[in-house]
Amino acid sequence: MLHVTGPGRAEVRSTPAGSPVDPEALGAALDAAFADGVGVVGWWVPVGDWVARRTAWRLGFAYGGVLRGWVDGADAWAFTLGADDPREPRTRWLDCPVIEGDGVRLRPLTTADAPRVVEGIGDPDTQFWLSFMPRDPGPAEGLAYLETALVRLADNHTVTWGFAETGDDRLLGAVGLYRLDTEPELGYWTHPDARGRGLTVRAARLALGHAFGTLGLSHVAAYAAAGNAASLGVLEALGMRRVGVRRRSATTGDGRVADLVGYDLLAEELSAG
Ligand SMILES: CC(C)(COP(=O)(O)OP(=O)(O)OC[C@H]1O[C@@H](n2cnc3c(N)ncnc32)[C@H](O)[C@@H]1OP(=O)(O)O)[C@@H](O)C(=O)NCCC(=O)NCCS
Repeated sequence: MLHVTGPGRAEVRSTPAGSPVDPEALGAALDAAFADGVGVVGWWVPVGDWVARRTAWRLGFAYGGVLRGWVDGADAWAFTLGADDPREPRTRWLDCPVIEGDGVRLRPLTTADAPRVVEGIGDPDTQFWLSFMPRDPGPAEGLAYLETALVRLADNHTVTWGFAETGDDRLLGAVGLYRLDTEPELGYWTHPDARGRGLTVRAARLALGHAFGTLGLSHVAAYAAAGNAASLGVLEALGMRRVGVRRRSATTGDGRVADLVGYDLLAEELSAG
């Protein structure tokens, strides 16, 4: 399982190639290798191998980024573990729990959602107001969106939920708590066929409840471009407080620069709606 590849260096290799690595067995092999003078162990796994990524995280490996074309021509996630590193997770791996209330259900996104994600992020309003979304998305961009949501959970960065109505799992939109490791911020988009029914406000209120309750945050921010009446309406309906304007801080889909209106909410200010 561990192969010495140079002075003081070893690599994790599963046998047969691509089979899951048993965390207990790897832990024992690491103990033996470090006792034998190995200083650092590297591990690269194909991007998307979440079982291996979780094992690397659990055993204290540091995530080093993506190595392009590294494993049989495919991209790989790179991890390293030093002899003196604590054998425990370095960062929080965020949960994306199912949360229900007020007729709305927040849940993890699944591959079955991909077509609805493509429609939602490809919609002209979304393309205009969220100009960082890929232009003219297709199936590949839909799957990349789902993959990014998983990566950001692993990175302690963002929880992204899909939301649906209780009793009907069809995806209606996405709501997220972004930058949880630094400046927590609420964000959302809603499929065009589900807008105007108050669903975004209800979904966002559940996400804020999770932020202040389960995650124990005291402050969440949100931003909407000055002309985005629908999004400003969501933030007002949530009872978020308008705190100021960040001038020329966004670019809309037509390439123009726009002001961003800043809002925030403190834990004690969240109302049940
Ligand atoms: C912004 C967006 C998520 C709103 O979704 P929605 O489901 O229509 O919002 P809701 O139905 O929950 O409405 C929320 C509030 O905004 C108001 N609102 C909604 N659309 C509006 C519009 N076009 N103009 C003015 N107010 C509007 C509603 O009246 C409601 O207020 P109320 O509760 O006081 O009646 C949706 O338009 C969207 O996906 N836009 C593109 C992506 C985007 O802009 N995301 C946010 C970026 S900051």
